[in-house]
Amino acid sequence: MKKVGVAILGLGIVGGGTYKILTEHREFYKRTQDVDIVVESVLELNPERVKALGVPESAVAGNIAEVVSNPDVNIVVEVIGGIGIAREFVLAALNAGKTVVTSNKELFCKYSHELERAAKRHNAGLYFEASCVGGVPIIRTLLDGLQANNITSMMGIINGTTNYILTKMSEEGASYADVLHDAQKLGYAEADPTADVEGFDAAYKLSILSSIAFHTKVPFSKVFREGISGVSREDIAYGKEFGYCLKLLAIGKQTENGIEARVHPTFIKKEHPLASVNDSFNAVYLTGDAVDDVMLYGRGAGALPTGSAIVSDIIYAATHSENKYSTFKNTASADKETDFVNNFESAYYLRLTIEDKSGVLAKISSVFAKYNISIVEMIQKPSAHADKATLLLITHKTRELSVKNAVAKIDATEIAKVDSVLRVVS
Ligand code: HSE
Repeated sequence: MKKVGVAILGLGIVGGGTYKILTEHREFYKRTQDVDIVVESVLELNPERVKALGVPESAVAGNIAEVVSNPDVNIVVEVIGGIGIAREFVLAALNAGKTVVTSNKELFCKYSHELERAAKRHNAGLYFEASCVGGVPIIRTLLDGLQANNITSMMGIINGTTNYILTKMSEEGASYADVLHDAQKLGYAEADPTADVEGFDAAYKLSILSSIAFHTKVPFSKVFREGISGVSREDIAYGKEFGYCLKLLAIGKQTENGIEARVHPTFIKKEHPLASVNDSFNAVYLTGDAVDDVMLYGRGAGALPTGSAIVSDIIYAATHSENKYSTFKNTASADKETDFVNNFESAYYLRLTIEDKSGVLAKISSVFAKYNISIVEMIQKPSAHADKATLLLITHKTRELSVKNAVAKIDATEIAKVDSVLRVVS
């Protein structure tokens, strides 16, 4: 039976989960996959973590050189995170001809061109299923399950922290700040939540997934990004009145004018399958020209779910002699032949505070007419401020720039102010 040696760089949550899965399933993989996968080496500075997992002392390496020069190590798992030493260690492993399996979305998003070049040069594999949507096998589905299709669109809830926060805000009517604070206390959100709440994490993943789905490089710089820190409980409550649910959606589309890649809080109809994806769960809703709609749902983070994706990559690498690389030209920036859409089309929800007097609605309507924005629904509500009213609008599909211009024009009047703008999947 083929024996494959693995090294794990970092025994944090995901590294620990990976170690546990590999050691507990060793006999199972021998039986079901016809391969004996052995953890030969771990690189971890914290002795407590090593001890807690029961890693034998003989398997603990002192430095990266020791790991990559170990002839018994075939596959190096990078679960350190970030783009500092992780990038250095991954390159060291690839340059030594070791196959790399990584869960590092930021590293893969920003440097996959460099890593893939090194991998090809040294005939090493480079696998990254765990970088996107944790335990949900989205990358393998795109590469090996849906490759018959031209994928036309992809919509996903691909960040669990923000989905947890939005779910709680919606269920409890609580403020963003209060829910974030609770989420941090419970360990759902990081002490510095920026990467999650400002949409960076989702944007890294969308850049990776869109490049694979659309067979062309979609660099991070081409992903429109807006996080959830500006979301208010009022808008979530008002959205419910229109039958909407608010989600941080990652949207990738192939349109006549080019590729769209965007991450932003979005209202979706409560009947849409993505609307019922709650708490920290993730899901991706794909449309292919042959298969039609497909949805994948599951845990986007956590020791064992992310470990599951890592170990699946290890097994793939251990049981395939040919390495699999990108189906597109993997360069640092976008291909010159590929167009990207910045001024994308969407429906919109707007909340305005207006003077409660005659002529105001006519003035607002004239601004919308000027920018060719058509209204689907409008509700006026009393405001907490005397002589003012709250106006809620849902538009037909229009262009992002038209809405931005209309908002600037309305804000410049004395009679109305736009308090929020949210995109709507209609
Ligand atoms: N922090 C991410 C999330 C998981 O909340 O979904 C890792 O990308």
